[in-house]
Amino acid sequence: MQLVRIGRPVIEPSMLLCDFGHLAQEVQRLQRAQVPALHLDVMDGHFVPNLTYGLVLVETFQRISSLPLDVHLMISNPEQYVEKYIEAGAWALTVHVEAMSDPSGVLEWIRSLGVAAGVALNPETPLEKLTPCLDCCDYVLVMTVAPGFGGQSLRPDALHKAAQLRQKYPQLVIGVDGGIKPENVAQVVQAGADMLIVGSAIFGHSDYAEAVALLQQRIRQACTSEEHPC
Ligand code: DX5
Ligand code: ZN
Repeated sequence: MQLVRIGRPVIEPSMLLCDFGHLAQEVQRLQRAQVPALHLDVMDGHFVPNLTYGLVLVETFQRISSLPLDVHLMISNPEQYVEKYIEAGAWALTVHVEAMSDPSGVLEWIRSLGVAAGVALNPETPLEKLTPCLDCCDYVLVMTVAPGFGGQSLRPDALHKAAQLRQKYPQLVIGVDGGIKPENVAQVVQAGADMLIVGSAIFGHSDYAEAVALLQQRIRQACTSEEHPC
């Protein structure tokens, strides 16, 4: 599955701070907000210092939502779970370059299974780590917070890596994940992001459609600026 840059960056809600006690309603509210996909933050308490949810919840999301599921695996040895998460309903699988001994091999394998393959990079990890696997992935997810928790502040040093990637690889699909707020959307868009993964700036709002619309308005404003038509 080949992802291509569509020109206008999109907002994807990160399902970490949502109300898990009312999941079906949460998904309906997001579908009404017309988000293009759901970003599912799977954490194992080992690769990151938090334990969230796994296969059973991905299966639940697949059952209650028609939206594509972009599964962000913040787990060690993700290759052991690739097939299981695809069976559970993953439309896209993001694996961390730091969590695998053979990132290229795993990404090629995910692609061979017909699923979009993303590689994520932590704030501390140098861009060079990605170079060997850029030909094997459909997108890169640049972490702008230390993975593990929502509600953190965006790290400008990490966002700078997204800008460097954009400069070097104009056609690469780039996601940015962590600390995105209406106030910094313009910087994230100008760094070259195609997918903006947003948690607390949506789920901290009483009206999700309003929160998403505000973020999209900021994207449009950023895109109409001369230095960054998108
Ligand atoms: C962090 C997750 C992010 C996070 C985003 O490990 O990968 O998706 O939930 O949440 P905010 O937007 O609140 O930083
Ligand atoms: Zn995430």
